[in-house]
Amino acid sequence: MEKIMLNFNNMGVAQSEIAGIGDKIADAVKAMGDKRSKMAWRDLPYNQDAVVCDILEYAEEMLPKIKSLVVLGIGGSALGPIALQQALRSQFYNLHNQFRDDFPQLFVLDNIDPATMLDLLAVIDPETTLFSVVSKSGATSETMAQFMIVKGLLERELGAEKARRHIVCTTDAENGNLIKIARTEGYKTFYIPSGVGGRFSQLCPVGLLPAAFTGVDIKALLAGAADMDKMCQNADYMANPACAFAILHYLAMKQGKNITVMMPYTDKLKFMADWFAQLWGESLGKEGMGQTPVKALGTTDQHSQVQLYVDGPDDKIVVFLGVEDLDVYLQIPEDFTDMPSIGFLGGNTLDELLQASQKATEYALTKAGRANMTITLPVIDEHTMGQLFYMLEVATAFAGELMGINAFDQPGVEEGKNAVYRHFGRPGY
Ligand code: PA5
Repeated sequence: MEKIMLNFNNMGVAQSEIAGIGDKIADAVKAMGDKRSKMAWRDLPYNQDAVVCDILEYAEEMLPKIKSLVVLGIGGSALGPIALQQALRSQFYNLHNQFRDDFPQLFVLDNIDPATMLDLLAVIDPETTLFSVVSKSGATSETMAQFMIVKGLLERELGAEKARRHIVCTTDAENGNLIKIARTEGYKTFYIPSGVGGRFSQLCPVGLLPAAFTGVDIKALLAGAADMDKMCQNADYMANPACAFAILHYLAMKQGKNITVMMPYTDKLKFMADWFAQLWGESLGKEGMGQTPVKALGTTDQHSQVQLYVDGPDDKIVVFLGVEDLDVYLQIPEDFTDMPSIGFLGGNTLDELLQASQKATEYALTKAGRANMTITLPVIDEHTMGQLFYMLEVATAFAGELMGINAFDQPGVEEGKNAVYRHFGRPGY
């Protein structure tokens, strides 16, 4: 098994500081064990076999009929699918079938900007498009509004009967309006298990359906998560990547480091930083505590934000996401040999330049005494991505225990949703 690795040598944390919160860590470890049965998302690596079969059967039926899959969802219903697709398929997947191997284009509409929606509806053909409506609550205004627009369009263009076969819903099996509508209309439906919140839902149909429809091996993704779950049970907590990640972030918070920057050194993991920003921010930003997640990208942000990280306020941790083997070879030609100031690049590969740039930024930060840690994926594939998603979810739950807060609710988000309902006169609000 290829394992992802967490290196925290550059965090500048002494063993004594970790020992100093030993009781708190022991309590958090115990709470994670005691509450495991209530964290339904922790079982997803093991209990999705029937769901996987259903998704693969549905994909087999639908794939020959469609050219586009449009996901309508927001927050936890959108960020994981975007991150996974970007990690495992070409950055230009939608542009050319050469990168898609006949799988459909994927569009994730995770905002309600009318211009974006109209532009998308103008370029897809309803006849060959499947719309996947994803909402745990079955009530989120953004997703429901998009759904209503799409339903109207499909019914106008294809007729009510045919329209039904172009909509698939992923939602709670019991609660919310979406499940009621799906049952009345006869839409194909997948379920978000009860106890699995939006941002912890990547390993259920929320993430698995769009992944399977774009050629991702979803069994390997779940197997990677299951392997990480075993690593996350290591009682030696500093050898347990999720615990170590949480403990070091918690200690940093105590020292006033209220920002955590996730900085992947590959475009493929750029959107992992978006997914993590939601997970860490929405789960832990509570009761006056929390750590602001910032998204960065190497090397791009070496030429913008890194100055601030090295030399600005010492209020942040940088988490690098690196890849040992990017599995691409692009050599820089040996040219300009009479100009050593650029000629030195010749003969090296872009991958080597990327890797060296990551090491250089780690070095610059460490030299300036700035806390940083590195998560390294041996390769980017389904198995390592399953590990990464799961590790960061467990780390977030563990950090919540250390902080003494509930990582699984989002009262601030709900308040905003309720205010919108009130504004539009939804009964009861
Ligand atoms: O993590 C969360 O709970 C939120 O970000 C939700 O995913 C987001 O608000 C969308 O909610 P829903 O899936 O109910 O439409």
